[in-house]
Amino acid sequence: MSIDCAARNRIAAAMQTATAPRRASAYAPSNIALSKYWGKRDQARNLPLNSSLSISLAEWGSHTEIVPAEDGADRVWLNGAALDAETPFAAKALRFADLFRAGRDAPLHIRTRNTIPTAAGLASSASGFAALTRALVSAFGLELSERDMSLIARLGSGSAARSLWHGFVRWDRGTAPDGGDSLAAPLDVHWPAFRIAIVAVDTGPKSMTSRDGMNHTVATSPLFATWPQTAEADCAAIETAVRAQDLPKLGALAEANALAMHATMLAARPALSYLKPESWAVLERLWRARAEGLQAFATMDAGANVKLIFEQTDSADVLAAFPQAEIIAPFSVQN
Ligand code: DP6
Repeated sequence: MSIDCAARNRIAAAMQTATAPRRASAYAPSNIALSKYWGKRDQARNLPLNSSLSISLAEWGSHTEIVPAEDGADRVWLNGAALDAETPFAAKALRFADLFRAGRDAPLHIRTRNTIPTAAGLASSASGFAALTRALVSAFGLELSERDMSLIARLGSGSAARSLWHGFVRWDRGTAPDGGDSLAAPLDVHWPAFRIAIVAVDTGPKSMTSRDGMNHTVATSPLFATWPQTAEADCAAIETAVRAQDLPKLGALAEANALAMHATMLAARPALSYLKPESWAVLERLWRARAEGLQAFATMDAGANVKLIFEQTDSADVLAAFPQAEIIAPFSVQN
């Protein structure tokens, strides 16, 4: 994990005043991209090839607690279970904590609890690294802006850069080679009627992590060449639709953007398909319902589950078409 130059200087300056770590805890919501991040221009720094825009999932996220280790040993717990230091989550979390320890001897206990129902089949790395960033900043008493926290969270997982806030969040790809301008910021949009539903299709582990999936796509898919430009234009148009609170426009763009991302993967060599027959069945059902007037649209990530976006007035019709849908009201909470 390499940290950007300008941020490193700011963090180093903040570290000058850092105290020995103390107990601290933080929460961060998970998020779903309406305009996807897919492809990196720098793998070590998680610098994206295109900007992206997401909606946070309110109470679905990660609570993380940092406790100075009295037993002198780093330890990590996930949902109450002690993890072996070698498990990928524990190893990544401790490596991330090293950014803050900056060489000092400060053994830590890290406890993370995800409130995302396992049955929802959603990844928790975005909320996990955002909550870990907030908790570490607070544990070390650092004076860092939320912009810097977004930039640091990005080093854990790209999508974590967008999980520092509730509501709609846009991650600007930035242009600086060191990534100092590749960070997210919340949009000043309050849209209480906006809804997102998770239609769980497959809750088992995914065939390939999003990190490996995007790297494989960038390296081998002939369709990827057009993606960065399309995605950047989609992100701008999606931001306009979000600001106008224009659900039909936003929905059509978000659905097209997600399908274009999956098309790049299908053209990878060998092909990569996160979508399962049941995902397509959900899409077919959605398209039929839409032909009959339902204003709901789909987006899918590096997994088989389908997420629907719509407005509160259509909640009953969405549930009638998709009884297993879990509906989230993103604006039921505030930053
Ligand atoms: C399809 O943020 O998980 O969900 O930066 O390698 O950790 P890394 O990838 P990650 O990728 C998310 C991909 C996506 C789209 C999105 O959330 O924008």
